[in-house]
Amino acid sequence: MAAEHFDYSKLNYSKNDDWDEVSLVDLENILRMKGQVKEFRLLMMKYDSALSEVRTKLDVLNKELSLRNNRNPFEAIKMRIKTPLSIYKKLSSKGVEFSLENIESHISDIAGIRVVCSFVDDIYMLADCLASQDDIRVLQRKDYIDKPKKSGYRSLHLIIEVPIYLVKEKEYMKVEVQFRTIAMDFWASLEHKMKYKKDIIDQDVISDDLKFSADLINQLDLRMQQIRRKIDGEEE
Ligand code: GTP
Ligand code: MG
Repeated sequence: MAAEHFDYSKLNYSKNDDWDEVSLVDLENILRMKGQVKEFRLLMMKYDSALSEVRTKLDVLNKELSLRNNRNPFEAIKMRIKTPLSIYKKLSSKGVEFSLENIESHISDIAGIRVVCSFVDDIYMLADCLASQDDIRVLQRKDYIDKPKKSGYRSLHLIIEVPIYLVKEKEYMKVEVQFRTIAMDFWASLEHKMKYKKDIIDQDVISDDLKFSADLINQLDLRMQQIRRKIDGEEE
């Protein structure tokens, strides 16, 4: 019988993984040995559904708030499901074997959604609106805007659980939501590029430059917010 393969086409997988090191077939064989192929597909489908739920919640907030305030609280949303290879790598780096139980217990960003806003205050407003919905459980909140990372990285991260409704039961699935401004997103993409590129000359100089730019971006974000508040006639 021909080997059965996962149907990746319908999921929101990130597309930039290279598959050379461990092939999809290798991972599938590991799962097959454990009798977990179908379960794995089901698990990824559940994370994908959780992403759609959160996306819908954010879209509703965006539509309501843009009607009320005449501006969109977010400019873009990016969503992705971690690929099997990157799940495998993350588990390996934690020294845990590739299994369904370990995926659920050791990784909280299988489903990831990034919300890109124009203004910093919209980040907090959206995050608070989402977190206070009564079917959402907030497991973790990391404010790297208030306390940036040493690299200069800024964003607000939530790990939430959202219910999805299956044929026989309701299940809470974890989703990582990252909120950042357009400028922070621009910065993070460039910094990410540097981190994952090997053999860069002057890495220290570039890191210092990035840190400096992150602080400039922060000043610019706050400045733009002040200007917008003045234009809107809001209290400082
Ligand atoms: P992970 O094992 O990567 O999940 O780290 P963590 O559990 O300590 O979580 P953390 O909140 O620090 O980071 C999670 C995600 O935020 C990462 O996967 C990146 O997408 C993003 N991130 C965190 N730090 C940085 C950084 O310094 N630069 C960039 N570009 N992205 C970052
Ligand atoms: Mg994480």
